[in-house]
Amino acid sequence: MDKLKNILSGESKNLKVLDVGTGLGDFIEVLKESLPGYSSIIGIDTEQGTVDKAIEKNRDNRIEFMRMSGENIEFEDNSVDVISISNTLHHLPNKEKVLHEIKRVVKQNGIIIINEMISDNQSEKQLSHVAVHHLQGELDTLFGRCHNKTFTLQELVKLVGNLNLEKVDMFQYNTHEEQENSENLEEEKEILDQCFKALEAKINKISDLKQRLGYLDTLEKLRNKLYNIGIFGATEVMFICRKS
Ligand SMILES: C[S@@+](CC[C@H](N)C(=O)[O-])C[C@H]1O[C@@H](n2cnc3c(N)ncnc32)[C@H](O)[C@@H]1O
Repeated sequence: MDKLKNILSGESKNLKVLDVGTGLGDFIEVLKESLPGYSSIIGIDTEQGTVDKAIEKNRDNRIEFMRMSGENIEFEDNSVDVISISNTLHHLPNKEKVLHEIKRVVKQNGIIIINEMISDNQSEKQLSHVAVHHLQGELDTLFGRCHNKTFTLQELVKLVGNLNLEKVDMFQYNTHEEQENSENLEEEKEILDQCFKALEAKINKISDLKQRLGYLDTLEKLRNKLYNIGIFGATEVMFICRKS
């Protein structure tokens, strides 16, 4: 991610970095590349199974993973140089609380990075990704794990604006940009099939028969529609802010 690297190139060395809602640590890979001067990166997540997998995968002794909620970050005020939260805000029942915690913990003049996939400003193929993701979110929520629809760009601009941070930069990007130039419906169908398989497995766990049949019908309609359209990764937006 050259753009982020250029923006952060002036940050000093020995940085203490925190990634909230880290999952398996995918965004930490972006941070490592963009902040080569890090002294430690801690990834926190509420799911113990996810934290265990992230620990198992990790080969860098400057990186640690812990089970901790972004709603109650167990660090002192003004104690971390850079805090990121990537593709997690739409998973939170209380996003304002998490953002407040992030702002409390980051040092004065420290950096906050907010990265989210958005639901608008997408091509027709990207809207397939949005549709599949939203159905996934509905099912996760049905099974008790909060997963809301992704935000529009405007909603995120407002949310970040409410934090009263100094805005360093904001840009949209597409992690699958190369796909735009090499349309390959067969490959896209394979991606869609993987998504539909995962969705179907989840739907088949719904105990209420009427609800299960309803979701299977929704899935079938989505399958027929999206096979003709294909799928590309949705655009994401990254905000880089400073606590002034
Ligand atoms: C879609 S994943 C994002 C993973 C990664 N950050 C990325 O960009 O690929 C969202 C993660 O947020 C975690 N999560 C949900 N609520 C959380 C909370 N209150 N505090 C910390 N992590 C949370 C979930 O367990 C999940 O692993």
